[in-house]
Amino acid sequence: MKVLVTSSSKHGATEEIGEAVARRLGERGLDVDVTRPADVDRLDDYDVVVLGSGVYAGQWIREARTFVEVFADDLRTMPVWLFSSGPVGEPPVPASEPAGVAPIVEAIAPREHRVFAGRLDPGSLNIAERTVLKVVRAEPGDFRDWDDVTAWADAIADQLAAGIAVLAE
Ligand SMILES: Cc1cc2nc3c(=O)[nH]c(=O)nc-3n(C[C@H](O)[C@H](O)[C@H](O)COP(=O)(O)O)c2cc1C
Repeated sequence: MKVLVTSSSKHGATEEIGEAVARRLGERGLDVDVTRPADVDRLDDYDVVVLGSGVYAGQWIREARTFVEVFADDLRTMPVWLFSSGPVGEPPVPASEPAGVAPIVEAIAPREHRVFAGRLDPGSLNIAERTVLKVVRAEPGDFRDWDDVTAWADAIADQLAAGIAVLAE
């Protein structure tokens, strides 16, 4: 079973989550490609897509939104898992699902949309981003929970294995 893990990232936090998911799926015996959304030409070679994006002002990065627009017809008919990397702080804020992602979830009906805590590294941000964060008083730091990420990848692998087992009956 061939899986595409593709994630859009401005500062690397989401990309690293995608890589961790891909690593785990590979350890679970799946054939996994990791490619940036902008570099994907076709989905014909894949059985499963895991698509992620960092969240900025409540919505996904344009690259990920464009990917959904371009491949909407394929994504609607394949097993798809979505993830967002956004909330920061202890406990992570915002606690609610990113509003801008709701239409994407509605459009492609994924198996799941998971929101993971993210990372804010003030040193890597531009002035505009730093100003926004000051206004919303976002807490800098790396709040990603790798056990959570690995458990999510395991759950995907379990569901795919269960699906294959049903087909073999
Ligand atoms: C300017 C700015 C705006 C942000 N807006 C949101 C937001 O609306 N919701 C959210 O959950 N996270 C928000 N974040 C946090 C990022 O999504 C989080 O740090 C994420 O892990 C960054 O991913 P990346 O490094 O892959 O780009 C914002 C971060 C910045 C710098």
